[in-house]
Amino acid sequence: MSLVIHKVPRLEGSLKVPGDKSISHRALILGAAARGRQTIEGIADSADVRTTMEALRAMGCFVEAMPDGRTIVLSHSMSTEFEIDAGNSGTTARLLAGFAAARARRCRIDGDASLRRRPMARIAEPLARMGARVVLSNGGTLPATIEGGELHGIRYEMPVASAQVKSAVLIAGLFAEGETTVVDRIPTRDHTEIMLAAMGADVTRDGNTVSVRGGTPLEGIHVTVPGDFSSAAFFVVAATLIPGSRVLLPFTGVNPRRAGLLNVLERMGAKFSIDALHTGMAEHAGDLSASYAPLHGATVNEPAEIAAIIDEVPILAVAATQAEGRTEIRGAAELRYKESNRITAMVENLRALGATIEEFEDGFAIEGPTPLRGAKVSSYGDHRIAMAMAIAGLVADGNTEIDDASVVEVSYPKFFADLRTLIR
Ligand code: S3P
Repeated sequence: MSLVIHKVPRLEGSLKVPGDKSISHRALILGAAARGRQTIEGIADSADVRTTMEALRAMGCFVEAMPDGRTIVLSHSMSTEFEIDAGNSGTTARLLAGFAAARARRCRIDGDASLRRRPMARIAEPLARMGARVVLSNGGTLPATIEGGELHGIRYEMPVASAQVKSAVLIAGLFAEGETTVVDRIPTRDHTEIMLAAMGADVTRDGNTVSVRGGTPLEGIHVTVPGDFSSAAFFVVAATLIPGSRVLLPFTGVNPRRAGLLNVLERMGAKFSIDALHTGMAEHAGDLSASYAPLHGATVNEPAEIAAIIDEVPILAVAATQAEGRTEIRGAAELRYKESNRITAMVENLRALGATIEEFEDGFAIEGPTPLRGAKVSSYGDHRIAMAMAIAGLVADGNTEIDDASVVEVSYPKFFADLRTLIR
């Protein structure tokens, strides 16, 4: 499905974005690792999260959406041989690889064409060191076969900044002999550690280090999932770029390791506010509002800040085209290994709209402001590229046509319908 977007006068209104995708995956997977019942309120209704639900069912768990909107996870009798189709979802593949390494006699994990291109040696290596047998395809990708079993704790210094790798190792560590320690030199999202603590795991955090001692059972809890900051980010930037706009995004997650885009936008001159709320766990959430403000360029190259904006770089690039002066993003080579090569995807797409953008191996530089002109662009099969280009289309003259816009299903099926409700 291709979709045409054009300039709008302004955006105004309030919108509840879908539940946080990262927290939803973890609530399901850790629920499957727990004793008793995990109930989840506000789970993301998205293809990726449904993929995790299906995978857990294939592993023998009971996962059910209740009529009142809660989702229940119970694992009485897990299978020891199963196949996981992780679809487009890196989080499903990598976190469940950690689970399988500890619990499966034999498990096969596969995914779609995009996921089959993404690196998996980063999880195979630590899981093998813990004692699992992990066989990847040539090139270190899916499909993977994992033969799990008796694991032992390791100390793992992560060579790449990846919350998925950290989480896979910690999940395996829950069932391993002794202590498993992950050193997260560059701090990445900490939803796993937060939820493990809430579920009674023997987990300790000390600076950049997270340790879990195996053998302490997790207890099922009630998880309230805040709105996904990564989805809210598209509306924050849209309101910032379109004169006269103001949007309110109630109960949105603003965990500092996720909401780094707000710090960058603040340096660029954006106007937003957060009324803090609580989720009952240590996850930060609040009512987030943003309104129009003229922007100026900024430099983003500090590794911790890159990690805290990793999924928001595409939409930050759109903001940069409208900011006065130069915006430079460096140290973000990981973007080349996401659902698409997000550096090339944004460079090609924004160039097609008339932006002045220079590509680097690890990022890009944008000179602004440039008036954008509508053109045909590609989602590259990537939900975040499709949504970022939709926001670019709102400020461009003429029509912006996005091919395969239905890929937003992956994280935010109602994105275009929700966007429409804000147009004035
Ligand atoms: C995620 C971690 C990040 C992020 C992805 C979700 C998670 O990936 O890009 O969208 O839920 O742990 P990496 O861990 O590969 O950096």
